[in-house]
Amino acid sequence: MAGFYEAINEKAKGIVYDLGTGSGILSTWAVPYSNFIYAVEKNPLVAEKTRSCLEKFKNIFFIEGDARKVHFPEKADLIICEMLDTALIDEEQVPVLNSVLDYLKKDGDVIPQGILNGVEPLHTNTEYLCYEENGKPYHQLLGPLTIYSHYDFRTPINPRGDFKIHMKINKNGMFSGLKITTFTLITPHIICGPTPMLNPPLIIPTEKLDVEKGGEVKLNLSYVMGGGLNSIRTEIEKIS
Ligand SMILES: C[S@@+](CC[C@H](N)C(=O)[O-])C[C@H]1O[C@@H](n2cnc3c(N)ncnc32)[C@H](O)[C@@H]1O
Repeated sequence: MAGFYEAINEKAKGIVYDLGTGSGILSTWAVPYSNFIYAVEKNPLVAEKTRSCLEKFKNIFFIEGDARKVHFPEKADLIICEMLDTALIDEEQVPVLNSVLDYLKKDGDVIPQGILNGVEPLHTNTEYLCYEENGKPYHQLLGPLTIYSHYDFRTPINPRGDFKIHMKINKNGMFSGLKITTFTLITPHIICGPTPMLNPPLIIPTEKLDVEKGGEVKLNLSYVMGGGLNSIRTEIEKIS
């Protein structure tokens, strides 16, 4: 939250959209620096609360609805869109941004500005895809983090992610899973690693493979950003 606060202080001006406004807190931080803010929330249960939190701000217009379908009457100097989740798989950050980028002024900006994704090979007994919390589920890393993708939210993103990744192995063991970690570039200077509330690392069980220190494994990883965790597919193959 501190990172978002700092970024909004620095970048809010003119016309601002806050897409997936939730509590509306990010919109309220933009109030002193902006002429007008369009805050959009699609979940009706959340929207009821958002409306009452935002009604006292004269330069915020609250819209209950799907941000992909809103016709905004004016272009934005800044789009705030915080529908983040690990690797952007399970939330609508990418489809929403793709559908509103035509509304962004030429010199406009987006908060957050992008993300980096990395993957590590590991041993785990879990058979279910889950988010890591306090070191659970138990897992043992078998190699270093490889950064495999980098997205800039100011340009359209193909929601289909297909990655061929070579992973180095630095321990003998049984490869049975992956850990995906997302780093958020709130701005190019404010980079936020995972927290339990923001993009906790995702543990993905894979087929099993005996690996040795010094070896290398080829990973085919695919998913649809905004397509949900069921869209994740993995294939692993030992190459040395
Ligand atoms: C991670 S929460 C962000 C909350 C907000 N930034 C805050 O600080 O309270 C994402 C929000 O986006 C909303 N959302 C998801 N998809 C949406 C869409 N297509 N259009 C509008 N809101 C959406 C969700 O209902 C949720 O409230």
